[in-house]
Amino acid sequence: MRNLKFIIIAVMMLPIVSLSAEKGHRSALLQYDRQIDGIISQMTLEEKVNMLHAKFMFVSAGVERLGIADIKYADGPFGIREEMQPKGWAGLGWETDKATFFPTGSALAATWSPELAYSYGTGMAKEARLRGKDMILGPAINIQRIPTGGRTYEYLSEDPFLSSKLAVGYTKGVQDNGVAVCLKHYALNNQEDNRGTVNVIIGERAMHEIYLPPFRAAVEEADAFGVMSAYNKVNGFWCAENEILLDKILRQDWGFAGMVISDWGGTHSTVRSVKAGLNVEMPDQKYLGQALIDSIKAGLVSEETINQRVREILRVRMAIKPVPEDMANKEMTSQPAQQKIAYEVACKSIVLLKNEGALPLKLENKPVIAVIGANATQIMATGGLGAGVKTLYEITPLDGLKNRIGDKAEILFAQGYEPVKFSWVRKTPEQLEKENQEKELAAQKLAKEAIEVAKKASIVLFIGGDNRAVETEGSDRKDIFLPSGQDELIKKIAEVNPNIVTVLTSGAPNDLNVVKPLSKALLISWFNGSEGGNALADVLIGKISPSGRLPFTLPVKLEDSPAYALGNYPQGKKSADVFANLVSETESTDKSQEKKDEAAKGDPNTAYYSEESLIGYRWFDTKNKPVMYPFGYGLTYTTFNYSKLKTDKDKYGKSDIIHVAFELKNTGKMAADEVVQVYVHRVNPSVEWPAKELKAFSRVSLASGESKTVKLEIPIENLRYWNETKHAWDDDLCKIELLVGASAGDIKLKKEITLK
Ligand code: BGC
Repeated sequence: MRNLKFIIIAVMMLPIVSLSAEKGHRSALLQYDRQIDGIISQMTLEEKVNMLHAKFMFVSAGVERLGIADIKYADGPFGIREEMQPKGWAGLGWETDKATFFPTGSALAATWSPELAYSYGTGMAKEARLRGKDMILGPAINIQRIPTGGRTYEYLSEDPFLSSKLAVGYTKGVQDNGVAVCLKHYALNNQEDNRGTVNVIIGERAMHEIYLPPFRAAVEEADAFGVMSAYNKVNGFWCAENEILLDKILRQDWGFAGMVISDWGGTHSTVRSVKAGLNVEMPDQKYLGQALIDSIKAGLVSEETINQRVREILRVRMAIKPVPEDMANKEMTSQPAQQKIAYEVACKSIVLLKNEGALPLKLENKPVIAVIGANATQIMATGGLGAGVKTLYEITPLDGLKNRIGDKAEILFAQGYEPVKFSWVRKTPEQLEKENQEKELAAQKLAKEAIEVAKKASIVLFIGGDNRAVETEGSDRKDIFLPSGQDELIKKIAEVNPNIVTVLTSGAPNDLNVVKPLSKALLISWFNGSEGGNALADVLIGKISPSGRLPFTLPVKLEDSPAYALGNYPQGKKSADVFANLVSETESTDKSQEKKDEAAKGDPNTAYYSEESLIGYRWFDTKNKPVMYPFGYGLTYTTFNYSKLKTDKDKYGKSDIIHVAFELKNTGKMAADEVVQVYVHRVNPSVEWPAKELKAFSRVSLASGESKTVKLEIPIENLRYWNETKHAWDDDLCKIELLVGASAGDIKLKKEITLK
């Protein structure tokens, strides 16, 4: 392990000029600059500053006198948020703002389909336009670093390549339809506990290879117009005033020409923020209002800097045509075309983990099916804190089953357990004690009912998992066990009816040690949007083959995953050691003893990313640790055969593209999609690498018996590493092995080639 102290210091001391040879892309936004100069020359200082902070909760000001419309924002990322009070967090109670609830981030990622991400973006943009919105606060594209992360369900994947491809699809889908995206949360907002105070300490290489790629791809390949700075600090500086992130990397290196808005309440300074590149303070004007005018007058920030920040906002305003007031909010936001997209994404997101012949359900003899579990009837569009969709409708799993097979089976339902409910109220120990006793009694009653129902049925559909109160913005989960005593309940059910099919509607990993052996079939069907229940029923009855693939690794137990195994989350020994060292080097012994003792306890406000690039499967594969189910895993109702792997050459130069081809055959009885994946393993590298990394994938549809030649491309440029000495991308020209397979744990074909 390299000495992280030096890396930290190196990152902190990076000059604010670009050392990298390449200079991102040329944004289409630059075309407006001449016109914008004319506008800026007519603006007063007050009018300029007025654009740099919130006007309302989700609006920032234009300049009415000059015909520049306000900018209207909408949360994001999985449905257009209801219309909010101008100055509060409550909705206005309208009828027409009921939107389509799209499957959340991890569900979208489980489709492994950039094309579906594009349709998804299209659907989001259409609903945003109906509501008169200019910018969607999404996609949310932070890497899923810890399985317990409160917003894992909103984010896409543990893998930067998969996240990047989907972020590009989503961004293009939105922006091709006249609305801007706002990529969030830039950057390294990988935990919710202490998100507003935590300082992420990370080396350059992991930052560039793992955490930044989705943002970079959406900027360079899809010309994203908006970015939201995150709440946390990175290497000592708040994201909203972090010159390395906002100026050097985003604007100088990647060529971002749009606007950066702060996360809500995430601005911390006046001069530092505008100088670093923050355009809009949301949802306040504490720092970029009068305080900014005062700072300009005091000569602490130049009017040229202000002009530049205004120019960046105006570019977006020019590119996104405002919806005329009299055309917005005339129709119901959720419409059939968007509901269809939600259905298609949901269908292709469902992951089948295990199937001992229990699925598809056999309906010939009108079976009695016991649907057990509160998740069968729970709404997932809203729940905990943060992003929620006031949806026009949501088909729950029980609704979906009734819709699809209500006449072909006798469906019995029992709730089984009391779901976790989100609450703001802090309870006294006495209140909690009383509540727990009541809960215990209620749980016994619910379990008893469930067992009675299970006895009467030929098959049990156990529909459990987390909910939106368990997985929520603002806090991480404490563990990954199924909540509400679900493991205990399923054990009791198995005693009376072992014919159990389990469906988990969760947005993040769960511990499957109890549920897996007790289930004849096991699926994850996510927080899956307005049409989630219909999609699930269609998969269960075999109308369509399951075709989702895990966007993250399912560990055997939480403690195996990297941040936990290294003891650096939530407050680790490792980070304490480093802190103790840093303190002892920088302060005299008398003064530092107290701080050293404090540091030795661990510091929840420092997230020390000492696992570097070994996130998700990169960690498990490199450390040879067994997993419950690997990244990329998912079964279908058919079988596939992989053969004849070929590449166009055996040796490749720095700017070549590897053309990979192989034969894929559907050898089973049903049409299905396979998600083929190509990983790269370095055979004789000159720097350290994870055991393997995803570098190409494709979703391939094949009818029963059909074969196809699958062709994929890997530009050699995509195999570079971030050289921390040069502060730039560099080649590691070595022998590599191409691994073609159905998941990170199921490699079917291999071929060695040479990079020279
Ligand atoms: C969240 C953002 C969201 C914003 C506005 C913040 O708390 O972190 O993702 O867009 O609120 O609702």
